[in-house]
Amino acid sequence: MYREDFPMFKQDYIYLDNGATTFKPQIVIDAITDYYCNYSANAHRGDYSISYKVDLEYEGARKKVAEFINADINEVVFNSGSTEGLNTIVSGFFDNLVDPGDEIIISKSEHASNVLPWFRLANKHNLKIVYVPLDANLHITLEGIKSVITSNTKVIALAETTNVVGDIRPIKAICEYAHKNNIFVVVDGAQSTPHKETDVKDSDVDFLVFSGHKMCGPTGIGVLYGKKELLEELDPLILGGGMNESFDSEKEIYLKDIPQRLEAGTPNIAGAIGLGAAIDYLQNIGMDNISIYEQKLKNYLVSKLLEIEHIKIINEEAGSGIVAFNIEGIFSQDVAYYLNKYNVCVRAGNHCAKILKSVTGVKNTVRVSLYFYNTYEEIDSLIELLMDKEKILKEMI
Ligand code: ALA
Repeated sequence: MYREDFPMFKQDYIYLDNGATTFKPQIVIDAITDYYCNYSANAHRGDYSISYKVDLEYEGARKKVAEFINADINEVVFNSGSTEGLNTIVSGFFDNLVDPGDEIIISKSEHASNVLPWFRLANKHNLKIVYVPLDANLHITLEGIKSVITSNTKVIALAETTNVVGDIRPIKAICEYAHKNNIFVVVDGAQSTPHKETDVKDSDVDFLVFSGHKMCGPTGIGVLYGKKELLEELDPLILGGGMNESFDSEKEIYLKDIPQRLEAGTPNIAGAIGLGAAIDYLQNIGMDNISIYEQKLKNYLVSKLLEIEHIKIINEEAGSGIVAFNIEGIFSQDVAYYLNKYNVCVRAGNHCAKILKSVTGVKNTVRVSLYFYNTYEEIDSLIELLMDKEKILKEMI
């Protein structure tokens, strides 16, 4: 299904590392090539036809993103990806807002990008980092959130889907409760927006970030969504051309409106256009179709893994297409190395979620992360390779 759209599938890979990045369909590659071959000018600067065309395509991509997540067009900021987005939110917005003693709620299953910027902010302003409890399945519940909220809670920052546990958090319910208590909600959508319907108006999230390359788009492009009134309070971290209206010799700076004021310098034009093409592609398939298919495929994978005695899954109940497991007595990276001999690509290690081990007691795992183009046959091939522990032990070095 859809595989003929992806040049990478001309090679004989079983690609199961979609949490890291996804393959790109030809139409995304064509959109990027078309920009570089046919109208390769800068954005927002030129008074000539190909530059106007760039503006149309670049702003057209912003419109596609806005429609994709149900945001207003000026609430969509292009950047390099989720990591930049989270750093921008923390350093450009919360840095000006927090007071010593404020509390930030995160979880122990967050990726580094949604931990380290908060740690730095906490160290700088003497804030408290509070971890929402994970239940027996390593999931978060609204009750768990409620149990750690205090009058000092300033912000709840969570991935909607975590990159190792793969649990999908109840973001809408969290926002509803948080907002009643004047608490901001920041969502890392890196592992969720590519896989399921995203509606920022419905969830009422304050900030959302995601990355183009995890949703069939190019690397180096991402999106920071923020509610208009919050983006207007966000201090640009990077100053330069394209984001200022004017400045004078007396050091006065007059900024452009959002989103341009948050996009200093020449933007990643090809990246934005490629992301727009990726969104068209995904919407043509249908985000609901994608999430339903991935869930079925993941259930099939889990059912097969459960039949293998020497395999222990850490996140059987996850609602996404992410499955993390270990083979008894074999280091996860050795398993990945063995699978690579058969052109099977998985990720192994701690996956940048380095606090998770303090809850699970498991430092490293093998991670399979699925996308809509993976097949039942690929799962069967993986299972066949994992079945024979003796063979793995023999071939892993
Ligand atoms: N954060 C990406 C992953 O989980 C890179 O693989």
